Amino acid sequence: MSKAMISTKELSKTYGRSGKVIALDKLNLEVYEGETFGLLGPNGAGKTTTVRLLNCIIKPTGGSATVGGHDLIKGSLEIKSMTGLLAESPGLYEKLSAHEFLQFMGALYDVPDDVLDTRTDKLIRLFGLHSRRNHLLEGYSRGMKQKVLIAAALIHDPPLLFFDEPTSTLDPNAALMVKDLMKDLAENAGKTIVVCSHILPIIEELCDRIGIINRGKLVAVGTIDELLARTGKNTLEKAYIDITGGVQKKELLSWRELRGAKA
Ligand SMILES: Nc1ncnc2c1ncn2[C@@H]1O[C@H](COP(=O)(O)OP(=O)(O)O)[C@@H](O)[C@H]1O
Ligand SMILES: [Mg+2]
Repeated sequence: MSKAMISTKELSKTYGRSGKVIALDKLNLEVYEGETFGLLGPNGAGKTTTVRLLNCIIKPTGGSATVGGHDLIKGSLEIKSMTGLLAESPGLYEKLSAHEFLQFMGALYDVPDDVLDTRTDKLIRLFGLHSRRNHLLEGYSRGMKQKVLIAAALIHDPPLLFFDEPTSTLDPNAALMVKDLMKDLAENAGKTIVVCSHILPIIEELCDRIGIINRGKLVAVGTIDELLARTGKNTLEKAYIDITGGVQKKELLSWRELRGAKA
């Protein structure tokens, strides 16, 4: 049996004074060392909340968890030093250049100076940003910023990586590169990876196991084959739709006034 890198017990997060919004409801989940785990679920299901909890960015309102053997509350410093996070809507220091930002992030993680210099240079080249490395991030496009943020998540070469919607703002070539990078990190660098993505072919290609969250609850977990067998479907897309409640028939053009409009 593989060792658990992440283990949660009834991990919960509510928002609002009376806890009206249940963002994550009693999550029990294990992610094993060296596996790539995909987190799927509709918008607002609780994926980002889970990722933020496991990176000690927000505190749980219930339950507990360990990451790399460290307690989520007591061991938050240790956890932060061993995780790399590509957040869904991260803050970025717009008045720094890409080079300065990566150097800054590396220094925060205590990467030794000589290692940091070469690593910064190599990551900037990997993402094709070399000619713009000294330009301020405020002038970068969304996809370019995303590349810098992925580089920043890798700068301290941590054993555990979280990618929250990594390819959503990238052009097709860059998305393919990032997918291959995640694959390489898992297969050839021994990383444990948690990835949230709606791009099912990416999930299918990369993930050893998948968890599906719906309305804050983990409603399915297993390999793709296990999810197909459980639902009796032949594609991950069909299994996902089945598990998350099926497609609801809607009058998609009901918002249009018929008066004057083409019927
Ligand atoms: N800071 C916040 N304040 C209030 N509600 C929040 C906050 N962050 C997340 N939520 C709510 O928690 C639920 C889960 O959100 P999230 O984890 O971002 O979903 P996902 O990443 O799966 O799309 C949603 O209902 C969302 O509105
Ligand atoms: Mg999200």
